[in-house]
Amino acid sequence: MGKLAASILAADLAHLADEVKAVEPYADIIHIDIMDGHFVPPIALGTVVVASLRPRTDRALHGHLMVDAPESFFEELADAGLDVVSFHHEAVGDPEPAIEKARATGMRTGVTLNLETPVEASFPYLEAIDDLMLMSIRPGWSGQPLNPEVYPRIEAARAEVDRRGLDVDIEIDGGVTVENARRAIDAGATVLVSASGIYRAPDKAAAARTLAEIAGADVRGEA
Ligand code: DX5
Ligand code: ZN
Repeated sequence: MGKLAASILAADLAHLADEVKAVEPYADIIHIDIMDGHFVPPIALGTVVVASLRPRTDRALHGHLMVDAPESFFEELADAGLDVVSFHHEAVGDPEPAIEKARATGMRTGVTLNLETPVEASFPYLEAIDDLMLMSIRPGWSGQPLNPEVYPRIEAARAEVDRRGLDVDIEIDGGVTVENARRAIDAGATVLVSASGIYRAPDKAAAARTLAEIAGADVRGEA
């Protein structure tokens, strides 16, 4: 059973609570992209957005940290009500102490890999994480096309997770649409992240519903 994560980066942020409500029946997770202008060129979102959304939705809030020195933000994000935190493998010298630090806050903990980072780089700490997120675009911007090099990477991660009998979510982030989502699920992804595939679709609730169905997610009812 997979899940859909609606990424608010492509939402109308002036109406954020409504944008979340529109997809809530289909998205188990609200994905919040946090960017610092250093690890990635843009700046975007942050702790105050987590705090504002927390009382407005019961969906899991997942912070995707595209920042240098992510450890310094774990505590404030947990205090703001974040449920899941992911930081980039490339943003830390050694992911393991950062994983421990994130876990100590009580949040589910994930690591994200850019396309250039061999997927095997995550294997030493797979036991320690709840979530492995594989980028299918260059991080920083919504609306880019999915790079198909991600599919064999998902397959390799899935094979290793299953071989070790682990319960680690495998997420794909970037360029996911109703057209390509099936292939990601077939490769072994359990969470589909989508921003423009939902929020730039002519009918965002319909796009979210279709993506949730492809993921095999539980759809909660009326929008
Ligand atoms: C990009 C973000 C993605 C982004 C996806 O750096 O990590 O989560 O919101 O946007 P789409 O789905 O439009 O590619
Ligand atoms: Zn993201």
